Amino acid sequence: MKGVILAGGLGTRLWPCTKVTNKHLLPVYDKPMIYYPLATMVDSGLTDIMIVTGGNYAGDFLRLLGNGSEFGLKDISYTYQEGEGGIADALKLAENFVDRDKVFVMLGDNIIEDDIKPFIEEFESKQEGAHIFLKEVSDPQRFGVAEVEGGRVKNIEEKPKSPKSNYAVTGLYIYDNQVFDIIRKLKPSGRGEYEITDVNNHYIRNGTMSYSILDGWWTDAGTFESLYRASRLVEKKIKGD
Ligand code: G1P
Repeated sequence: MKGVILAGGLGTRLWPCTKVTNKHLLPVYDKPMIYYPLATMVDSGLTDIMIVTGGNYAGDFLRLLGNGSEFGLKDISYTYQEGEGGIADALKLAENFVDRDKVFVMLGDNIIEDDIKPFIEEFESKQEGAHIFLKEVSDPQRFGVAEVEGGRVKNIEEKPKSPKSNYAVTGLYIYDNQVFDIIRKLKPSGRGEYEITDVNNHYIRNGTMSYSILDGWWTDAGTFESLYRASRLVEKKIKGD
């Protein structure tokens, strides 16, 4: 399985900090944000990882992460997303890198407490489909929201005004190799982006989407509130309080 970390975007919600660097290089407690999804991938046993970045500070990733050997990686690749085409558009750039493998995708501003290696290993032995990770939250309107019934996800709505559940779809996704064919068929959403939620709904309609619920905490870190929250959660985990 290959790993892809999506770390593009202009980080406008973290302005002016992102005036001089990429959002994913800002500190979360004692490390740059991108270290956390990278550690999740390494801890899951992945050794071949691509970073998809964009914006004005792409070179800083190379300076920070180098060839990845410091993190125990066999190889680290980089590619560059032009413009603001959305998450699915960014993932499309990893097609050649993923080749015929399966892929674990993580948004570069998502941080989790759990070890998800067992899910990655289980998916590796499956033939086809996709797997998402849900987490109950108090502010589902901010996220993709999953409607769950009888142990299956029925539908996902992106940032709904009236959410049908409290289950946020976290920015961790496992896909089989069909994902790139699905992305090619997508149409841009109302906000002009290629949405990962549309990719996931495609798998749901095909009946090949599975899910699990994260036990430990999960946060994104794309706003000042969530960035602060992320730092606090990491600090608590490190200090064990
Ligand atoms: C994206 C996805 C959304 C998901 C969220 C998780 O939203 O579109 O479905 O719940 O990441 O962090 P964004 O943060 O890009 O607005």
